[in-house]
Amino acid sequence: MTRNSYYITTPIYYPSDNLHIGHAYCTTVADSLARFHRTKGEDVFFLTGSDEHGLKIQRKAKEKGVTPIEYVDKIIANFKFLWKQLNISNNDFIRTSEERHHKVVQDTLQKIYDKGDIYKKNYEGLYCVPCESYWLERQLDENGCCPDCHRPVEKMQEESYFFKMSKYEEWWMSFIEENPDFIQPASRRNEMINFVKQGLEDLCITRTTFDWGVPVPFDSKHVVYVWFDALLNYLTGIKYGSDDAMFNKFWPASLHLVGKEIVRFHTIIWPIMLHAMGVEMPEKVYGHGWLVVDGDKMSKSKGNVIDPLALIDEFGADAIRYFLLREINLGSDGNFSRDALITRTNADLANDLGNLLHRTVSMIEKYHKGVVNDAGVSEAVDDELKTLAAATVENFIKDMDGMEINTAIKGVWAFISRANKYIDETAPWVLAKNPEKAARLETVMYNLAESLRIIAILVSPFIPSASPKIYTQLGLAVPEQFLLAEAKWGGLANGTKVAKGDPLYPRIEIAEDGSTIIGGKKYEPKVSAPAPAQEEPKFAMEPIKEEITFDVFEKMDLRVGKVIAAEKVKKSKKLLKLQVEIGPEVRTIVSGISQYYEPEAMIGKNVIVVANLAPAKLMGIESFGMLLAASDGQGNLVLADAPNMPSGARVK
Ligand code: MSP
Repeated sequence: MTRNSYYITTPIYYPSDNLHIGHAYCTTVADSLARFHRTKGEDVFFLTGSDEHGLKIQRKAKEKGVTPIEYVDKIIANFKFLWKQLNISNNDFIRTSEERHHKVVQDTLQKIYDKGDIYKKNYEGLYCVPCESYWLERQLDENGCCPDCHRPVEKMQEESYFFKMSKYEEWWMSFIEENPDFIQPASRRNEMINFVKQGLEDLCITRTTFDWGVPVPFDSKHVVYVWFDALLNYLTGIKYGSDDAMFNKFWPASLHLVGKEIVRFHTIIWPIMLHAMGVEMPEKVYGHGWLVVDGDKMSKSKGNVIDPLALIDEFGADAIRYFLLREINLGSDGNFSRDALITRTNADLANDLGNLLHRTVSMIEKYHKGVVNDAGVSEAVDDELKTLAAATVENFIKDMDGMEINTAIKGVWAFISRANKYIDETAPWVLAKNPEKAARLETVMYNLAESLRIIAILVSPFIPSASPKIYTQLGLAVPEQFLLAEAKWGGLANGTKVAKGDPLYPRIEIAEDGSTIIGGKKYEPKVSAPAPAQEEPKFAMEPIKEEITFDVFEKMDLRVGKVIAAEKVKKSKKLLKLQVEIGPEVRTIVSGISQYYEPEAMIGKNVIVVANLAPAKLMGIESFGMLLAASDGQGNLVLADAPNMPSGARVK
């Protein structure tokens, strides 16, 4: 029996200060698959989230003088904001720091411990902090560094609990043999088999060297190893142990989509954990390739980290999504280039799709006062269009089911091109001049509008904001869910009245200095600068101002505000324009902090606002309030903040 539910997950992301386009890639792919399964009428649960524990986070928080949860809260707010901007339709966002997850981890550990699959021993090993992994001497790379990330390892000694992975080696081999589709693509399956053939070691699953993690229920000195903790998010997200109806509906997971470097954790450790727990296996783990920038791996020091928020601001979420999905072959590494993004957007979105809609709707308005009416005067070329429409839908389903996303997109665009060609072949402007061809013209217009209706459904997993716009211009009510069942020829009713709107995608023009002009707005290319060298600040204190009375001070109304949007003020080096939520209201505040804070880093940040300051105009923008910040007069500035306080709270 085929199931009508679909459960898809992305990896849960490490809270990183630098959100980059690579982060957006995996989530965009998962989103397109989730949306596709919804168009099939399936009940979809799409989970993403954050992997927040571990020594690395604990150290970073300490460096910044905040608690680990304060440190991660801000970053997670940025992640959530990015997913919203990118139109990601996740059903839940799981954070491993949440109570609901701690419970699942602790219950699981206890269960496996009670079964006798966990034991304690003294352990000395070489530990890679960024990867949170122990390595044996023989596993290190040629420089004696971590074989995964090639950074130095540290010698660590601790008493640890171990999970008896080795006990399940034979079970794993037979499971993989019996389920050839479990690991995909096939090349990654072979890699994993070769890895396990070298012998499975028991896995060290607890740590005592830090405490930012889930406490081990049977030994409170220990916290759970991050991977053991993190993988269980896939069960927590669908209420394992707390809501059987929900869990049984969505488990086993239909697909864990992960990057190629973490296939090993998902296809060896994870199935063995589940098997030890007596939980059914997920259906599939797919290891996608990596995104590189202009042929080079992204890194902060190279300054080639592409910020997805800036990119969305400039080109829109659809263009980014479309580029990632169309340009990259899911199983292989793919290249991101700004030039290629611009070329793709102009060619496929602005020209092919945008023009088809624009031409069609304009002609229906011009020739038929906007009303669609199939007069039934068909010619051979119509049959060709209709046959291709049906074949496109069929191939689309086959390709998407097979996770051939870019092939599916190519198929849809071949149909879009065919429809554009149909306009040239039928030459409606010639038909319009001949009264005897009036009925034929009506049929031609119907066929074009009907093609666009089907196209709107097919593109909805990839460029979700386009489909409602196409429907609206076609005069159709936007459904809550676009359904493939409705992508059958003839669904458009006669009498439908189209309504021309703005172009779907404005053309991107490129100025001589390399900046872009989109819809009349100019954008400088935004790539993050290489990490600057740190300099010792020299501080000279300013004299304290003359005394004021408490009454005077009390007139100042200071409030906690939460930044919900931020952008650089055009032509200003210093100013950021912020939207700040203060209790129920949202205000525009212009602040001279642009040299110190990137707009993206401001999102979700709590700030202190002088809330009753008279409005002032800065670079033509009215600013309603001011942010408090500490400055040493030597080029350093830090905003005052109030983490974990509700916006609107009074500061005294
Ligand atoms: N926290 C673990 C996953 C735990 S899942 C139980 C982790 N996090 S991560 O933030 O480092 O990576 C999350 C995902 O982002 C991975 O699938 C990784 O492959 C993906 N990407 C990060 N950078 C990437 C590119 N440049 N390109 C494509 N995806 C990459 O691993």
